[in-house]
Amino acid sequence: MRVQGPTGLDAVGSVAVRTFAAHQSPQAIRPRAKTAHQSMDGHHVNAMAGDRSGDNRGHFADYDDLPEGHFYDPDAEYEPDPEYAATLAPDAARQRRERVGPTGRPLPYFPIPGPLTDHGPAKIIAMCNQKGGVGKTTSTINLGAALAEYGRRVLLVDFDPQGALSVGLGVNPMELDLTVYNLLMERGMAADEVLLKTAVPNMDLLPSNIDLSAAEVQLVSEVARESTLQRALKPLMADYDYIVIDCQPSLGLLTVNALTAAHKVIVPLECEFFALRGVALLTETIEKVQERLNPELELDGILATMYDSRTVHSREVLARVVEAFDDHVYHTVIGRTVRFPETTVAGEPITTYASNSVGAAAYRQLAREVLARCHAE
Ligand SMILES: Nc1ncnc2c1ncn2[C@@H]1O[C@H](COP(=O)(O)OP(=O)(O)OP(=O)(O)O)[C@@H](O)[C@H]1O
Ligand SMILES: [Mg+2]
Repeated sequence: MRVQGPTGLDAVGSVAVRTFAAHQSPQAIRPRAKTAHQSMDGHHVNAMAGDRSGDNRGHFADYDDLPEGHFYDPDAEYEPDPEYAATLAPDAARQRRERVGPTGRPLPYFPIPGPLTDHGPAKIIAMCNQKGGVGKTTSTINLGAALAEYGRRVLLVDFDPQGALSVGLGVNPMELDLTVYNLLMERGMAADEVLLKTAVPNMDLLPSNIDLSAAEVQLVSEVARESTLQRALKPLMADYDYIVIDCQPSLGLLTVNALTAAHKVIVPLECEFFALRGVALLTETIEKVQERLNPELELDGILATMYDSRTVHSREVLARVVEAFDDHVYHTVIGRTVRFPETTVAGEPITTYASNSVGAAAYRQLAREVLARCHAE
């Protein structure tokens, strides 16, 4: 077993022994080698993957635009932002020695998933928390992009009228003629007409904009109003391995639709004082949906986000979360870094914007942890 840092990645350890200029520009944080090399599992690691000079950035492109064998090795040496690495590993040496992750539990090794020969049926994951600004959209984009890097076919569903997921993938919601709203409300509307391919190979998007807010009202009078999204996604299930739904910050009818369509829920929790407030209401809602609408639904995990281990506060909150939810808390913890807001402006996932940053590595580890949980079933 490999000795890992608190994110489960050697990356943090490598920061501890090397020195970098703290003022490195985003462009400077790139893979060093420009030649492809072989990773542990035999995949080619394309070190050019993080090169942002390509002209497909922020645009929607065909899959063919990106080179084949576009795999990353999450255990490769990274040159991450040292300041960010410090937020996750104030005592990297101890954590590596004792193999303890930031949740205070022994850190398992999440293997690199093997390639798939065929795809589907999709597992549907709802990214849900009625509290705003906890990292739902950020986690949807980056978990999706990391799963896609591992060769999984991924569909992201923007189920928030704010359209933040669409914006985060470089789409202007105001310019869209067809959105997930049309798919929900218009009988006979084919998903293909609404689907957009993203610049990330293997990852598609069902975009949304403010039109979706009307659905919440219009659905009230529909028959089986809670399962409208489930019906709309059904024809797409065979084409994807994972469908991730970015919910809006409410427990209204749209979120209930997402929970009814989903097999699993991921609850991002920001590591700050009021994090646990409202979680009881959320778990109650999940249980109600389980009982009445979707017996298959289960809580896959609680994802701690915006963690900064340099603050006692962040560590205390995380400890409380682990106390309350125990094994439901993912070993992977997402640290706080300005890199994430930057990616929203850039309109792309962190896995391509700053491919070898610790933030990207953390979401890759989350993808491996999610896959490991799915395979353990
Ligand atoms: N790990 C992180 N570190 C720092 N900033 C982050 C992190 N994750 C997300 N952010 C930033 O926090 C803000 C809120 O994140 P995000 O939009 O993902 O949350 P959300 O739960 O989807 O919000 P909403 O409830 O409004 O939909 C964004 O500006 C995002 O860039
Ligand atoms: Mg959001």
